[in-house]
Amino acid sequence: MGPVDLVSTPLVSRLKVTGAEYQDNAAAMTVLVGDVEALHRELLGGGGPQYVERHLARGKLMVRERLEALVDPGTPVLELCPLAGLETGDSVGGGVVVALAEIFHTQCLVIANDPTVRGGTTSPTTIKKLLRAMDVAELNRLPLVILVESGGADLPRQADVFVPGGEQFRRLTQLSAKGIPSICVVFGSSTAGGAYLPGMSDYTVMVDGRARVFLGGPPLVKMAIGEDADEEELGGALMHARTSGLCDYLARDEDEALRLARGIVAHLHWPRLGPGPSGPADPPLFPAEELLGIASVDVRVPFDVREILARIVDGSRFEEFKASYGAQLVCGWASLGGYPLGIVANNGILFSEEAQKGAQFIQLCNRSDTPILFVQNITGFMVGTRYEQGGIIKDGAKLINAVSNSTVPHLTLMVGASYGAGNYAMAGRAYDPRFVFTWPNHRIAVMGPKQLAGVLSIVRRNAAQSAGRPFDEQADEELRSETEAQIERESTARFATGRLWDDGIIDPRQTRTVLAIALTAVHSAAVQGTATFGVVRH
Ligand code: COA
Repeated sequence: MGPVDLVSTPLVSRLKVTGAEYQDNAAAMTVLVGDVEALHRELLGGGGPQYVERHLARGKLMVRERLEALVDPGTPVLELCPLAGLETGDSVGGGVVVALAEIFHTQCLVIANDPTVRGGTTSPTTIKKLLRAMDVAELNRLPLVILVESGGADLPRQADVFVPGGEQFRRLTQLSAKGIPSICVVFGSSTAGGAYLPGMSDYTVMVDGRARVFLGGPPLVKMAIGEDADEEELGGALMHARTSGLCDYLARDEDEALRLARGIVAHLHWPRLGPGPSGPADPPLFPAEELLGIASVDVRVPFDVREILARIVDGSRFEEFKASYGAQLVCGWASLGGYPLGIVANNGILFSEEAQKGAQFIQLCNRSDTPILFVQNITGFMVGTRYEQGGIIKDGAKLINAVSNSTVPHLTLMVGASYGAGNYAMAGRAYDPRFVFTWPNHRIAVMGPKQLAGVLSIVRRNAAQSAGRPFDEQADEELRSETEAQIERESTARFATGRLWDDGIIDPRQTRTVLAIALTAVHSAAVQGTATFGVVRH
């Protein structure tokens, strides 16, 4: 029996898996999971059959085949922001794959263009996704491998991508300056600004006869200086290997290029600076399957968040902190994949006591260098005269202060509502958690659709009254339902993930697996907590 067993009691489940509520929840969640899976499957078709067939006919591997050949066989690959761009008008996925993957026993961050999607060109979504990838590599200190085949900026959309797109090259060279290795493998076009991907990476591999790396391709050279340039002489792999010196490793074909990239990762002997798992990584006592039926798709229906914890943490062990105080915020210690974890999880609305408890707990996690998992199901802080007079703002500020200044890694999981300041206080995207994953039922907005539409209606009514105008009840009713429908649409998991407010919508049953991969990434960097208000206890 390890020391963990002496203090942590396994959680008890009261879930009635044969009950109607569980069955209804599971059925509704299964439909949502199916929708997300269908969207993921569509990504495999790249830019469509016409482009895929042409790509394959050229003897090239599809982007995910390249990824598969790069990673250690049989190891999990976690794609980040796979549905970026959904419901924005951009290509879903942004024509680029970003993934956490094991290469030669080293966890790396891989960025890989999908050349079948508009020639692998860069849309605003692509840029957001690339910059998110750079964040992940930098914050977690992960070697970066970039598989390039891209037409560069989407030219008709140059106004949207040219200026912001520059940041990817700045970030890439800053990664190198921080000692985080970058390896660029060029399979095809790497043109204009895109030429700085190999240009600013620590290592470059190019596929002979395929890689084309130039600041200006033949058409631009003709336009600029009237020269008739030959593609191979201008930017071919052989030229860069023999003449310009940009290419460090010349590969005969794609397979060899990927083998060379694996070899480079192997010789890095990349050290992990965070502690390794320190406890048993035994599975929870309850089946992951049951995660489907805990949360309702109607985020107003409450449930006990401990039912989720019981199905994701090691051995379902949980040492609850201040269990009887501020009971709507569940705090405590557990482990996942053997990594110690502080947990801050909503079990209802936040009051002053919950906020103070959360702030204290976050500081304690900082004192013991323990990463924190935030489990969000939060409609916000309590409002009303009694609570304002009781100091809900100043107590909420303590929690937001602690979340903002905490330096241990944060992971955020959204399993229901993420409304209002609750999103901030529970480490929403703007608070820089290392990773944010969501369940397909989650809703995210400044407030619920009904409340928001009702607030606007009261504002309109008051404005009419102070201006002495008659109030059109029917027009207000119409506007109210329009607004409600708009917020309903804008607060879905699909809408949020399209805008990269998270790193992916996951199947609830895979929560433990996904978090274990994320925790492995987090521990590639040192884990140091420094947040404190001077005294931990309030
Ligand atoms: N901007 C916008 N669309 C682009 C593009 C770009 N930079 N590059 C390619 N596309 C589009 C093509 O118009 C084509 O669209 P369509 O099928 O609707 O007609 C689609 O992407 C596929 O391109 P295609 O040229 O048919 O594919 P390919 O595999 O034979 O060649 C490239 C791919 C990238 C080598 C080639 O398209 C190219 O050289 N593009 C221009 C690159 C460039 O100069 N970029 C400068 C960026 S600053």
